[in-house]
Amino acid sequence: MDYYNSISKGYNNLHGKEQEEKALLVKANCSLSGLLLDIGAGTGATTSLFEGRSKCIALDPSKEMVSQFTGLKVVAKAEQLPFRDSCFDSVISLTALHHANLEKAMVEIERISKPNSCIAISFFKRAKNFNIAKKLFAGFRKFDSEKDLVFIRP
Ligand SMILES: C[S@@+](CC[C@H](N)C(=O)[O-])C[C@H]1O[C@@H](n2cnc3c(N)ncnc32)[C@H](O)[C@@H]1O
Repeated sequence: MDYYNSISKGYNNLHGKEQEEKALLVKANCSLSGLLLDIGAGTGATTSLFEGRSKCIALDPSKEMVSQFTGLKVVAKAEQLPFRDSCFDSVISLTALHHANLEKAMVEIERISKPNSCIAISFFKRAKNFNIAKKLFAGFRKFDSEKDLVFIRP
């Protein structure tokens, strides 16, 4: 987490544009409404793009990153989501889950999602656990987004 804490001030200038493109791809291919959780939301710059039709919560283990988000925010990890079962209509995660234990994170995502909720995960292709992601998200639709592959269900 030290890395993201240390770059938190300059993060949006460094990565904002490319992350915005992934968020727009998700928006274009996912029907989103109701309560949305953004896991590994970072500064929440992309989370805010989903506000409007959805009420968004930004979750990130880096306090320095997520404290920049002006909306609802939680400091936590994907592997242990501090929410009750079946409470989210949509779950998104953009270029964050390669940092997590993916199997544990996915159990948590399924637990907190309502049945038939939209799940959209943009995953860093060069990550060590990319092959695990491809297996885990085999049934998801796939969209190419340069450095990431974006998995969307349904
Ligand atoms: C490349 S940034 C992406 C931030 C944001 N999603 C965006 O689109 O700009 C990766 C984020 O993943 C977060 N992260 C690291 N480990 C995590 C974990 N175990 N669970 C959830 N997020 C994690 C980092 O703190 C960082 O903010």
